[in-house]
Amino acid sequence: MGTKNPFKDQSHSLTKKILPWALYALLPLALLRLYFYPLPQFKALPGEAPQNKPNIITSSSSQEGESFNEIPCDYTNGKWVRDKAGPLYNGSSCGTIKDGQNCISHGRPDMGYLYWRWQPKQCKLPRFKPATFFQLIKNKHLAFVGDSMARNQLESLLCLLATASSPELVYHGDDNKFRRWYFPPYNVSVSIYWSPFLVKGIEKSNSGPNHNRLYLNSVDERWASDMGQMDMIVLSVGHWFLHPAVYFEEDSVLGCHYCPGLNYTEIGFYSVLRKAIQTTLEAITEKRGNKAIHVIVTTFSPSHFEGDWDKAAACPKKKPFEEGEKLLEGMDAEIRSLEVEEVEAAKAKATQFSGLRLETLDITKLSLMRPDGHPGPYMYPFPFANGVTERVQNDCVHWCLPGPIDTWNEIMLEVMKRWEAQARRGG
Ligand SMILES: *[C@@H]1O[C@H](CO)[C@@H](O)[C@H](O)[C@H]1NC(C)=O
Ligand SMILES: *[C@@H]1O[C@H](CO)[C@@H](O)[C@H](O)[C@H]1NC(C)=O
Ligand SMILES: *[C@@H]1O[C@H](CO)[C@@H](O)[C@H](O)[C@H]1NC(C)=O
Repeated sequence: MGTKNPFKDQSHSLTKKILPWALYALLPLALLRLYFYPLPQFKALPGEAPQNKPNIITSSSSQEGESFNEIPCDYTNGKWVRDKAGPLYNGSSCGTIKDGQNCISHGRPDMGYLYWRWQPKQCKLPRFKPATFFQLIKNKHLAFVGDSMARNQLESLLCLLATASSPELVYHGDDNKFRRWYFPPYNVSVSIYWSPFLVKGIEKSNSGPNHNRLYLNSVDERWASDMGQMDMIVLSVGHWFLHPAVYFEEDSVLGCHYCPGLNYTEIGFYSVLRKAIQTTLEAITEKRGNKAIHVIVTTFSPSHFEGDWDKAAACPKKKPFEEGEKLLEGMDAEIRSLEVEEVEAAKAKATQFSGLRLETLDITKLSLMRPDGHPGPYMYPFPFANGVTERVQNDCVHWCLPGPIDTWNEIMLEVMKRWEAQARRGG
């Protein structure tokens, strides 16, 4: 571990404090309220915007999935179709699911949401094969860096892999925000680094100010100091940028977001998120030295609150949206677009450095189409054990495990297969 490793040195625990409601007037109350509760820590997803290039991945026509032939496929473009094959793992036997996402064991009664598969228009997305994943990542360290959506995706991956090999938890620190697992048969390490801004950030706390402070020119050393021992990095942030914050560039204040009373200029968060991603991708480009490193940026994950976050049916849908029923627009589309743009820009610069590969994992649209995949009230065990109440806490941000988020890792595996094929060709 590096010297300033977050694994050892994290002084700012996630606050359980609820901020004054007035601060959030412009945000969906439901979403915000959830962020600040002592619930699961939250983060976000992807989307599809017409102006963006599709991600091209390699689709394997072989059911065995080992042939890596290169049929380019735009996996962002497709639809959810019924699939009686069902989930890839058993939620009750996978030991690494955070409580709040373990919907089946929390008594979620409907199972229909488990029987869908993402069908890209141009190809078939193969079911996740742990053996293929291990083959591609053996002797390597895969790090997830970001917020609670990074964790949600990591936990999905661990469950998928656990069907073939049991992960050993070899490190955990600071309230489980920094953890590492090891798969002995393959010498594979998989870790999670809590870093909701990717850049240096001071999260609001009970004792300090009621807003986050972000230092947009400095990468967060809590994960970046370990970069030398990472072979593949999955970056996933977004939702924390919606919170009240003051932004610094070098040492001066650049502006703020939802900061009444502070006498700073409101600058919104889009340009700030863009800058944070730029700083991060530049740091990876510059700091990795000669080391080969593969970087995936998971795009924004939309939430699905309908009305108040704490009403009985805050995300009540039981099946995916039909095509055209829900458009990717507004904030979801904006965040997803800027993420795709920044990865494309970094990719263009990266060609001169061999060994650095970058790709977006563009899951915004396919996730937007799954209002049925969230825990809702089943973030807590058996929420209606004492009868249905009018008010109940809901998580319409994170994803049930098993659930639609498993598809993200299936697509990620396709990206890794394409990289492998390119490497074999010497590309
Ligand atoms: C999942 O695991 C539990 C506990 O081991 C078992 O009772 C259940 O039948 C399993 N379900 C499936 C679908 O395999
Ligand atoms: C095991 O994996 C680590 C990366 O996590 C790597 O540095 C090391 O060389 C690997 N060991 C062998 C024997 O390949
Ligand atoms: C707010 O900032 C402006 C410009 O920096 C300054 O002139 C003004 O005095 C400040 N107002 C307060 C109340 O601090």
